[in-house]
Amino acid sequence: MTDLVAGLDIGTSGARAIVADLHGDVVADATAEYPLLTPRPGWTEQHPEEWWQASCHVLRMVARQAPGPIRALGLTGQMHGSVFLDAGARVIRPALLWNDQRTAEQCAWITAQVGAERLIALTGNPALTGFQAPKIIWLRDTEPEHFARVQSVLLPKDFVRLRLTGVLATDASDAAGTLLLDARTRDWSAGILAALDLPARWFPQVHEGPDVTGTLLPDVAADLGLPAGIPVVAGGGDNAAAAVGTGVIRPGIVSVSIGTSGVVFAHTDQFAPDPSGRLHAFCHAVPGRYHLMGVTLAAGGALRWLRDVVAPGVAYDLLVAEAERVPPGADGLLFLPYLSGERTPHMDPDARGAFAGLSLAHTRAHLTRAVLEGVAFSLRDALEIMRALGTPLEEIRAVGGGARSPLWRSILATVVGAPLVRTVAEQGPAFGAAFLAAVGAGYFPDVAAAAAVVRLRDEITAPDTAARERYIEQYARYRRLYPSIRTV
Ligand code: XUL
Repeated sequence: MTDLVAGLDIGTSGARAIVADLHGDVVADATAEYPLLTPRPGWTEQHPEEWWQASCHVLRMVARQAPGPIRALGLTGQMHGSVFLDAGARVIRPALLWNDQRTAEQCAWITAQVGAERLIALTGNPALTGFQAPKIIWLRDTEPEHFARVQSVLLPKDFVRLRLTGVLATDASDAAGTLLLDARTRDWSAGILAALDLPARWFPQVHEGPDVTGTLLPDVAADLGLPAGIPVVAGGGDNAAAAVGTGVIRPGIVSVSIGTSGVVFAHTDQFAPDPSGRLHAFCHAVPGRYHLMGVTLAAGGALRWLRDVVAPGVAYDLLVAEAERVPPGADGLLFLPYLSGERTPHMDPDARGAFAGLSLAHTRAHLTRAVLEGVAFSLRDALEIMRALGTPLEEIRAVGGGARSPLWRSILATVVGAPLVRTVAEQGPAFGAAFLAAVGAGYFPDVAAAAAVVRLRDEITAPDTAARERYIEQYARYRRLYPSIRTV
C-alpha cells in the first residue's frame, strides 16, 4: 500500500479535504459547505465552530475513501480572518472574514500610528480593510466587552489546527496577511504590536510552511478515523498553498487564477514590496521565500452576479457560448468588475462596478462578453504593476474554475499578450497543503522536489493575434474609465 498525504482547506464557501499519493494523484476528495453570514451590508462573518464541524466531516469522508494509510496532514484556508479566543480557548464572537469591509476607520488609525511607508516597508502592505489587524482594533473600538476577554487571536485554518492538535501555531504566509508580521524576520513585529498596543502573547508561534506544528490528538484521530499521532504541518494561506500545487515556486513563474476572486501571484526570492502598496507582498509557503499578489475581488463572482441578475438558472456554458459569437471588444461595451470594492489596482473598498457604452444594439451576449473582458483587463492591471516593478514574468499559468473556459483563457491570453499554460493540478489550496505535509513528513527534501511531481497539461492558449489590436485599444479605454467616473 502506498503512503498518502492529506490537505485540508478552510475556504469561504466550505471546507475541502483531499488525499493524494506521492505522485500527485488525488485519491480521495470531499467538500462540505457552510454559510457566509452578512449581518450588515459590507460585513462578512462565519462561526469557527462551523469550520470545525465541516472539517471533521470532510476528514472523516476522505479517511474512509483513502486506499492506503494517511501519513501527514497539511492545513490551508481563507486568509486574514480573525478568530478571537478567551482564556478557555472558547470562541468569543463569530470571526470577521477577509472580504469584510467594516474597518476603514481602523485602517486609517493604524496607518497614522505606524506610518504609511513604514507599514509597507515592514509588512509588505498598506492597511487594508480585509486584513486581520484592523479587525482586532475594531473589536477594541466597538465591542470592548468582547475585547476584554481576548487571550489569543488566530487565523481561520489555525483555529482548526488548535482543535486537531491542541497547539497554537501558524505559518509565515498566512501570518503575513495580518499586517502584524515583520516580513523580513518572518516573525511578529514588536514595533507594530507596540504601536497598536497589542500584546505579543496573543499571537501563535510562526512556522515555515512545511514545518510540523504538532500531531493529531488521539481522541480526535479516533473520531475522524485517521491514524493517531500523524504530523500536522503548518501549511499556508490559500493562495500560497495553491501556488505550491501549481509549481509557482521560482522566479519567472506567475499564476493567474479566476475563482470567485481573481488572483495574480508571482514568486519572488527576496522580500520586494510594491512601494505604492497596490500589490500585496506576502511570505510564501516556501521557506524563506516571498510572493507578490494582485487581487480582483469579483472575477468569477462578476460572471455569477451577471448570470443571477439577467439569466437566473442559465448554465454558464450557454452564456459563454453566446458571448463567443460577439466580436472582441463587445462592440464597444466596457465593464468594470468592482462589484464589491477593489483591491488591485485601486485599493478602494468603495469602488463600484459599471457597464459603459451601452447601446440598443447590445444584447445579453454582449454583457457577458464585456464581463469576461473586464475581468481580464483587471487581471492585466496587476500584471502591469508587476512588470513595472521588474518582476520576471516568463511563464503565466492559468488556474481556477474560470480558466476551464477556453474563451475566457483566450481573452485573457490576448489581453495580457502572452501564452497561458494550464496545469492539471486543479485541486487548489488543499492539494498544495498536502504536498507541504509530504515535505514535512520527510517524503521530499524540500518544496521544489515535491512540486516537481506536478504535471503541466501541455495545453497552451496563445494570444489571438487578430484580436490583439482591438484589445490594446479597449484596455486603454478601460484604464481611463474608472478615474473618470470615480467622483460620480
Ligand atoms: C487574499 C485574499 C483571499 C482570501 C480568500 O489576500 O483575501 O484570496 O485568502 O480566499
